Amino acid sequence: MNASTHHIPREIVDEIRERSDIVEVISECGVPLRPAGKDYKANCPFHEEKTPSFSVSPQKQIFYCFGCQTGGNVISFLQKREGKTFVESVEWLAGRLGMSLPTQDAKAEQASRKRREFRDLNHFASQYFHKQLLTSAVGGPALAYLKSRGVNDETIQQSQLGYAAPGRRNLVKAATQTGFSIQQLVDVGLIKNDDRGPVDRFRGRIIFPILDDRGIPVGFGGRALAEDLQPKYLNSPTTPLYDKSKTLYNLYQARQDIQRTGSALLVEGYLDALILHQAGIKNVVASLGTSLSASHASLLKRFSEEVVIVYDGDAAGLQATLRGLHLLLKEELRVRIALLPPDQDPDSYVRSQGVDQFNAEINKAINLIEFQIQRAVRQDALRNVEVKAQAVKEIGLTLSNVENQVQLNEYVKYTARELDINENALRRELRSIGVGRSGRTTSDSPPDSPSTPDRGKLSPRESIEEQLVEILIQSSEFVPYVRDQLHYEDFTRPDLAKVAQMLWEASTPETSIDVQNLIDSCDDEKTKSIISNAILRKPPPPNSKARVDGCLQKFRQYLVLDMERTKRSQALTQEDDSIDTLEQLVELSNQRRQFVS
Ligand code: UTP
Ligand code: MN
Repeated sequence: MNASTHHIPREIVDEIRERSDIVEVISECGVPLRPAGKDYKANCPFHEEKTPSFSVSPQKQIFYCFGCQTGGNVISFLQKREGKTFVESVEWLAGRLGMSLPTQDAKAEQASRKRREFRDLNHFASQYFHKQLLTSAVGGPALAYLKSRGVNDETIQQSQLGYAAPGRRNLVKAATQTGFSIQQLVDVGLIKNDDRGPVDRFRGRIIFPILDDRGIPVGFGGRALAEDLQPKYLNSPTTPLYDKSKTLYNLYQARQDIQRTGSALLVEGYLDALILHQAGIKNVVASLGTSLSASHASLLKRFSEEVVIVYDGDAAGLQATLRGLHLLLKEELRVRIALLPPDQDPDSYVRSQGVDQFNAEINKAINLIEFQIQRAVRQDALRNVEVKAQAVKEIGLTLSNVENQVQLNEYVKYTARELDINENALRRELRSIGVGRSGRTTSDSPPDSPSTPDRGKLSPRESIEEQLVEILIQSSEFVPYVRDQLHYEDFTRPDLAKVAQMLWEASTPETSIDVQNLIDSCDDEKTKSIISNAILRKPPPPNSKARVDGCLQKFRQYLVLDMERTKRSQALTQEDDSIDTLEQLVELSNQRRQFVS
């Protein structure tokens, strides 16, 4: 249906899909698949579970989770798992296969070649810094420092931590000897020019590579090793690869756990993220000293439903972060805030109090409105009118992002009670800043409910419809046969009608249906789920034709019943007792009885 809007020719998508083994790709994305009969199984990466219901068929190149009903092909997996678009997923697979996609113009071609070169260079630099750290003569003190901060070897390895020695031109030399140019080094922000010529940007610093969604370094953070080296942290400048407002540290390592738990912890610093991750709290990302941007928010929304912000109690940074929080609400992320005691950051807290205590703090995290109210109360808002007025303004800003009217109403009541404000006065005040006006913003229709109706609860008619669609997906050679006798609108369940429509449209006398293409053209999860389930659930029955005919017969019975009902109610409402209608009714019920036989 929307395959044409994908901008990559169908044949190329087919080729890339066919050459990408779904089992390999899913494994590479960190899902530990285990053989189980003809298929592979694992705990589902898309929902929390204890016994594996996530299945992958190497034969059919389909995955399906019998628990949460998520399913699709290798491309859908990447879309869902990595938050990529269709095109991005195909491009990713192509890159993995070492294939290049045809690009429209030479300019785009050149830009993407440049990006590849930049990535290669960053990759080289990252390895170079990492080696320096582990080379005792140069990196000894840096390694000792990381150890003193409680960072273990596994974390150093996994996060590819490194060290940039103090000399002026260490990296300049190493990189140019390998064949990179000074200009390339400047372009990726690894060196700069000063009055004495090219000089390494990072010197005497511990290096934290910042990874993109493929695990390739796009930028670096460097922490001064010496106390007196300023600034304490230095980051890569904005480059064609790196934009700090679009990047979150540790997201590459954390996103699977974020997705699985539906929740992301947001901390401030590199070490906070690393130490929590190392302590087993893996769904953690760091915002790296910048205030939260709209891109950060949508990045987080790709993987989670909720963001828990963890800050130290006295944080100066907190103020800056609070300014960005409405962006999270705009993305319809739930936001909670965990405040640590003053002078404690997540890193120091976990190391001094332990993981359990830290988790207890996370569980106590309160939502944003509660947080703002508590803060105002601590600042004496109940007695100080100005503080109270300021608090109402801030809370108003937060509330202006709450789309759900019922929730909004509850929040307003809660705020009025806690801050001891007359509720109507508060509503007037909020309206004056644009909160709660009807028709304020457009709200999108609610997302499709993810679950298929319970199989056990299907009506007999729905179950016939479902069986029919299932057989047609499994044995698509029957589609033309059934299409001649039924219209897809005859299906009462909208999701099945949609699949039927896709089947009807995809099948032509010359070509048989390609289920992989069918999945690519799905524009919603539900449809993918129905198709993948049908493919994976059971082998096509040997006597498909008989089952198709059986379903068709019952299906027609229901249709006749529909017509009978319509006629009867017409007859009733119009008091139409003309011979014509009566005859039709008799004819219809005869037809129906015939089907029953
Ligand atoms: P802090 O300076 O609060 O970290 O910076 P800290 O806890 O005292 O020091 P370490 O890292 O634990 O030793 C917290 C975060 O703010 C950003 C960095 O991302 C850092 O991890 N930051 C800080 C900068 O970007 N630049 C700076 O100069 C300082
Ligand atoms: Mn710290």
